[in-house]
Amino acid sequence: MDQQLARAEQGVRELRATRNDRWYPKFHIAARAGWINDPNGLCHFNDRYQVYFQHHPYSSDWGPMHWGHVSSADLVTWRREPIAMAPSVAEDRDGVFSGSAVVSDEHELLVYFTGHRWRNGVDEDDGNLQVQCLAVSKDGITFEKQGTVVECPDGLMHFRDPKVWRTGDRGYMIFGACSPDNRGEVWLYTSDDMRDWTFDRVLYRDPDPHTFMLECPDLFPLGDKWVLTYCPMGRRPKKYRARNRHNAGYVVGTWSPGEEFRPLTEYRPIDWGANYYAPQSFQAPDGRRLMLAWMGSFGIPAASQLTDGWSGQMTVHRELTLGDDNRLIAVPIAELTQLRTATHDFGLVAMGPNETRTLAENVDAAEVEIDIDLAGSTAERVGLAINKTPDGHETLVGYDDLARRVFVDRRNSGHGNRGYRAAPCSSGRVKLRVLVDRGSVEVFVNDGAETVSSLIFAADGPRSIELYTECGDATIPRLVVHRLGSIWEDAR
Ligand code: FRU
Repeated sequence: MDQQLARAEQGVRELRATRNDRWYPKFHIAARAGWINDPNGLCHFNDRYQVYFQHHPYSSDWGPMHWGHVSSADLVTWRREPIAMAPSVAEDRDGVFSGSAVVSDEHELLVYFTGHRWRNGVDEDDGNLQVQCLAVSKDGITFEKQGTVVECPDGLMHFRDPKVWRTGDRGYMIFGACSPDNRGEVWLYTSDDMRDWTFDRVLYRDPDPHTFMLECPDLFPLGDKWVLTYCPMGRRPKKYRARNRHNAGYVVGTWSPGEEFRPLTEYRPIDWGANYYAPQSFQAPDGRRLMLAWMGSFGIPAASQLTDGWSGQMTVHRELTLGDDNRLIAVPIAELTQLRTATHDFGLVAMGPNETRTLAENVDAAEVEIDIDLAGSTAERVGLAINKTPDGHETLVGYDDLARRVFVDRRNSGHGNRGYRAAPCSSGRVKLRVLVDRGSVEVFVNDGAETVSSLIFAADGPRSIELYTECGDATIPRLVVHRLGSIWEDAR
């Protein structure tokens, strides 16, 4: 693989020289240049948090997949690492697809991934040939491929994205499959030595008849429940749901080794934004369940993909808990507050009807905390205009009292895909944390009860943040704007 990796590093160096940084993230993980999608192999190994990701180092479009790599001692400052894996053997000839990592008793990093081939050797027209593979590393940097550990039954088109964990002294592996009758399923395999894997059962089948594949499944405990997350392919849009070409959701249930997974809830979106896909979780050494997802686009290209030499970024790391109503709660990890470089506390703010107020100018990365007192407000919409540029472009983030939703409206963002996305917010309480990076926004509603994450590509010029009301006034008991610094150890 050494030769392929050296070539890939050269490819990314060349692209890096052309990278335009107007939308390049300051506090979200992204590749130096080129394309990225799913987070892979998330773990804490050798005293560092390791994040691998699907990566095409030769262009800002999807292509033969490599595993890119960054690492961090503290989840705040990140170091670029060499590309970890490239297509190099027969079974991953056309791509080292998504997968996960576990640390062995011998203190090696075991990564399980999908080796991908096009059946016709060129494209998807005649389908895929996908198998689950193992690679082993002593340092998390260089990997030795060990070949296939799970073969694909004859004729199955989609068979990928292993997520592996250990419970007691057994290994468990789930991945997504398209059944012979074209339905999306999660398959479970088990192993006593992490090398020989045996089919256990079809753990889950999505009830939606249009859903033909469940990409990137994950199954993890929260309290006394288990959460199954996955990305259904084929879901049809319904009202505010499944509006993206690629959607991610979850089901909460019970599970224990040797048992069925028994759902207690219906499928629900994890995030309501335009760009949230392929989430993967892992357990931090202190016991927290953390999750990372890809913000990108397979359909309409991201604006940066067309002109700027890079495409795709991760969300921030989110800490997960389960609410009393079995709702997945996701908040930015506590470490994120260390990125704050300057803070302006506006205290209590009273806004008149149809008023606009500038909160911050020349902003590239910021966090806004805003509570809205609905009982003391009559506004139909109240919120923030972020990425406001001198030519009048802006993205709106706020609360809509007619729909009782928190929205991100990209109608007038500047570049890239438009569209409106909104999360339910009918509790009578509106408390938002809004993370604004150069090319994205993540909104956390009511302490993580809902989230809305979308890429946004601002127009040219300095960007400001405004507060606004529409058709009524607003009482805002808390309003704080923090500027945020960079996560990168060096500027590369
Ligand atoms: C999801 C996905 C995975 C696959 C990978 C390929 O985004 O399609 O199913 O392993 O991306 O890059």
